[in-house]
Formats: sequence, C-alpha cells, structure tokens
Amino acid sequence: MTNMTRSIVRRSRPTGRLRPCTLPIGKDEWAVTRKCLIAAGRRATPMIGVTTLHRTPPWVMNAFDRTLRPLLYNPERIVRPFVATGDRAADIGCGAGFFDPALSRLIGPSGELLLVDSQEEMLHRAVERVRQDPGARAEVTGVLVSDDDLQLPTGIDFVLMSWMLHEVHEPESYWRSLGHAVRPAGKALVIEPLVHVSARRWDEELAPAEQFGFVRRDTGGVLFSRVAVMTKR
Ligand SMILES: C[S@@+](CC[C@H](N)C(=O)[O-])C[C@H]1O[C@@H](n2cnc3c(N)ncnc32)[C@H](O)[C@@H]1O
Repeated sequence: MTNMTRSIVRRSRPTGRLRPCTLPIGKDEWAVTRKCLIAAGRRATPMIGVTTLHRTPPWVMNAFDRTLRPLLYNPERIVRPFVATGDRAADIGCGAGFFDPALSRLIGPSGELLLVDSQEEMLHRAVERVRQDPGARAEVTGVLVSDDDLQLPTGIDFVLMSWMLHEVHEPESYWRSLGHAVRPAGKALVIEPLVHVSARRWDEELAPAEQFGFVRRDTGGVLFSRVAVMTKR
C-alpha cells in the first residue's frame, strides 16, 4: 500500500450519514484511514431528485478508455490549466477513471481527490486505476452516490464533470449541491459529447448553474465535445 487512501464511502439510510466500508479488490483490502473518514464525513447539502437518464455500463467505458480514447485525448493536458498542487479536486461521474491518474499527479501528495460515481463497479475501476499509477500520490476517496443524492464536502477547488451531465435527470439539483461544495473562485470543468448533447440541451444543463453562483465561459479544445469552464463567484 502507498500513502494513498483507498476507500469507498456510502450513504447509510435513513440517517444520511456517510458510512465507510472496506471493499475487497483482488487480494487487497482498501484501508479506511481516519483522514479519509473526516474528509468524507463533512456534510454537504443533499441533492433531491437527481436520477440518471441512462447509465454508461462499465465495460463500455473500459473498452473505450483502453483503445481509442488515449489516442484522441490527453487527460493531463485537458485538466492541467485548472488544478494546482494541494488542491481538493472531485471527478464527478468519474467512470472508469480516465482523468484520475493525471489529476492525482497534478495535485500531488498534499492534494485530495474525490472520485464520485453512482455505479460501484465504476468506482472500483477508477480507484484501482489511480492506485496502479506510480506517479499518483494524492489522497483518494471513492464516494458512491445514489442517483438522487450527491454529497460532497465543502471547499472544493476543482470539479470535473466529463461526459456525465447528460446522464443526470435534474441538473438544477446538481448545481445547487455544487454551489455549496465549490469554494469561491473554484472551477468546474464541464465536458459533454457532441453526439449526445445538442446545443439546446447544453444550455439547459448549464443554465441553472448561474443561480447557484457560477459564471459560465464556453471554451473548446476537447475533440467531439462541448466544453465550459464554470467559475464560482
Ligand atoms: C459516460 S460515463 C463518463 C465517465 C468519465 N467522466 C469519463 O469521462 O471517462 C458517465 C458516468 O457518470 C456516472 N453517473 C451518471 N449519473 C450519475 C449521478 N447522478 N451521480 C454520479 N455519477 C453519475 C455513470 O455511472 C458513469 O460512470
């Protein structure tokens, strides 16, 4: 084991408190450290009414991530402008963790990386992917969320939402929660696939962000994708 925290936390019902659990992955047990418990236990505003429209199955992301995707995209180049050493970063809808070794390397050992997904298998793959990267040394916490409930600690410097917002049924609830979690001047990088998300749908996804304190700036630079940087006022 390295100094990385490897754990999955999940919400216990009906209390809503985050409850850590160790999950066997191959021959490993993921250790739950005190620091992780504290990080994961900070309450944020629960999201109500978020459901997924459809969910990409793990095997699809895995196949894409291991074949075509690395040829088309450099995850480090995409996120580098937005993160710094020591940041608290969250990859929401992290999938199989395509961006996460790069994020972990960039924020370094003093940084904290939250991997958030509603599919446990995705989360396992993402945490494992970071674990296997020799240069990735940030503290990592996997957070399993239910479709209608996103809980994040506050004080987040950077949020990545790559190709996931179109799977969220109620973007408004999502942005409300992010409005509490992201610190002033913190950023959310939203990337959506052109093939799934029309210009109208893109506007609908991002429109609620403004009322929860985000300023939108559309950018580019990611193939076949719509991209916006949302800065918290
Ligand atoms: C198309 S995959 C993209 C994965 C990853 N962001 C990437 O770019 O490789 C979408 C991911 O979002 C997750 N997801 C969908 N709805 C979610 C929700 N409400 N909360 C958290 N994760 C969600 C899915 O389980 C899936 O792993």
